[in-house]
Amino acid sequence: MSNTAPRKILVTSALPYANGAIHLGHLLEYIQTDIWVRFQKSRGHDCHYVCADDAHGTAIMLRAEQEGITSQALIDRVSQEHQQDFARFGVAFDNYHSTHSEENRHFSELIYTRLRDKGHIATRDIEQMYDPVKGLFLADRFIKGTCPKCKTDDQYGDNCEACGATYTPAELIDPVSAISGATPEVRTSTHYFFKLPDFARFLQGWISDDHVQPQIRNKLMEWFESGFNEWDISRDAPYFGFEIPDAPGKYFYVWLDAPIGYLASFKNLCDREGIDFDAYWREGSDAEVYHFIGKDIVYFHALFWPAMLHGAELRTPTAVNCHGFVTVNGAKMSKSRGTFIKAATYAEQLNPEYLRYYFAAKLTSGVDDLDLNLEDFAQRVNADLVGKVVNIASRCAGFIKKLGGGRLSTHCAEPSLVARFVAAGDEIAEHFEAREFGRAMRRVMELADEANTYIAEAEPWVLAKQEGREQEVLDICSVGINLFRQLMVYLAPVVPAMAEGARTFMKLDSLDWSSRQELLLDHEIAKFKPLMTRVERDRIDAMIEASKEDLVEEQKLKETPKGPLADDPIADEIAFDDFAKVDLRIARIAKAEYVEGADKLLQLTLDLGGETRNVFAGIRKAYAPEALEGHLTVMVANLAPRKMRFGVSEGMVLAAGDDDGIYLLEPHSGAQPGQRVS
Ligand code: MSP
Ligand code: ZN
Repeated sequence: MSNTAPRKILVTSALPYANGAIHLGHLLEYIQTDIWVRFQKSRGHDCHYVCADDAHGTAIMLRAEQEGITSQALIDRVSQEHQQDFARFGVAFDNYHSTHSEENRHFSELIYTRLRDKGHIATRDIEQMYDPVKGLFLADRFIKGTCPKCKTDDQYGDNCEACGATYTPAELIDPVSAISGATPEVRTSTHYFFKLPDFARFLQGWISDDHVQPQIRNKLMEWFESGFNEWDISRDAPYFGFEIPDAPGKYFYVWLDAPIGYLASFKNLCDREGIDFDAYWREGSDAEVYHFIGKDIVYFHALFWPAMLHGAELRTPTAVNCHGFVTVNGAKMSKSRGTFIKAATYAEQLNPEYLRYYFAAKLTSGVDDLDLNLEDFAQRVNADLVGKVVNIASRCAGFIKKLGGGRLSTHCAEPSLVARFVAAGDEIAEHFEAREFGRAMRRVMELADEANTYIAEAEPWVLAKQEGREQEVLDICSVGINLFRQLMVYLAPVVPAMAEGARTFMKLDSLDWSSRQELLLDHEIAKFKPLMTRVERDRIDAMIEASKEDLVEEQKLKETPKGPLADDPIADEIAFDDFAKVDLRIARIAKAEYVEGADKLLQLTLDLGGETRNVFAGIRKAYAPEALEGHLTVMVANLAPRKMRFGVSEGMVLAAGDDDGIYLLEPHSGAQPGQRVS
């Protein structure tokens, strides 16, 4: 170890949502962070790595409801699944906690009350869409309707996937709640806001101060120029989260208490291990705090979070380290192509260390997306880890067993070669420190090439056949093992399981960075066992197939319980008088036409036996207009007229149906237009 004092470092990865499985996209982040943490630990620093499940919010509440379990039961189960996935990929948190924890409640209340007492919280009434059937205010993504620009149906509340338009849910045509299908109403409610503009000057300084990467700084500066708004931090009951202390029925928005979860998880670790929490989090602390995140959540980590911490008189992060997104074979991960690959599905087929190495080999300190090209993946892992690194040990081990009785030579035959490998560790360390893992891996593989060249040129297998040259062979192979040892020190943060095998093989106490300084002379090694096998292509194919099956399973889960009634329970009982208010009549479809610009609707002219009505019906996908003309059906004749974009609809025709089809009701023959239906 160098004689400088160990640094105090706290590292976090983003907290995964507790309503879904870990997939390869997530893993980029956890693997990147874990490599950096393992590197810091190898260097002898006091480094703590914490994470937690992000357990709050509407999505989790609804998911639990859909599964028929409590939110607590859901988050407990998912936490177990997440931790199992992380363990399989060697992601070694020092603590894994939950945002639904007492520590998190404590810090959320603390930060909120400090901000409030300093005047950084405002309240204001806002109008919002409300689902009257579910009794819930609806976030934009829970509202669907027809795009006001291009008229594509089934678009979510704030943007259109077809034409890219952005809008407010109120602008959608025929909006419905994506949860219940009900037509949302506009309702008013008081919300709590964090006054972000109070921190504009502070943030401008913070962002310019090297706490974020240059590309991120540019992006944030653009946001600055467009000015920021106050941030809505409250949600109305029912909500799975923490109630705001002075505001009954109001809950902290999930994104308020999520980053506070970093503090909560660390506190939980400190209490268990006697670490001084305040030494890390008080203002002016000399400890370092790093958050690793994806580029989709920069706003929360580089604006709201530092402002909240600063406002609450806590220290701000040393840096927010942002990475890009994983694509597979050049495209966004896709469920139907089988490239939306869950961590567990991968681990059933392939060694997690392959993925750790591949990600490391391609990672930079930037925010560019990273493509997992499965062909390149197999080729790279096989060529580098198996072909270059493991090969060194496997070529040398046998001769050492045979000629040295398992003991390395007592002297080093190539001191300058070995010394260069040791010295390269300083440069490789700089690459790791700067999160330039790709550069570090390239340097390691250059060294591996050098080691292989040395052995190939020395030809120990040729010498071994010549009498009296045993010592030379032992010397060469001992150099080989010493070089291999250097490489494994540098690779250990990336492939910890392989490194553990190598450590056992070389009978070493540790592969820490500083341990490499002492050469292995007259040192006993164990019998060699293959440390890593080649990637098999048929396993990759099997993984893709299994991912397609995962999709089928998920769809089944969504469809159960079976039958139309199960999804759409019979509505609450009504009195006969309520029913009698509905005036149902037999109607003859006199005319049916397409409606320009509406791809769900047909315009029907209905004959009620003397009177005609104009009705717009959402049945276009099931019927061609000419197929309907002349048929009888049933209509609600006393529905209040409704003004639509295309004209006034004067009633409603009755049809059965769901996503699979629409079936207009038709009476038995003999019924007459205008007859009452009861
Ligand atoms: N719960 C929030 C984070 C709260 S942190 C206080 C969240 N969760 S997430 O599960 O959606 O994502 C967790 C992390 O994984 C995020 O940093 C996100 O950027 C990252 N990734 C999710 N999909 C990804 C890819 N396809 N590629 C790379 N990273 C991705 O956001
Ligand atoms: Zn559109």
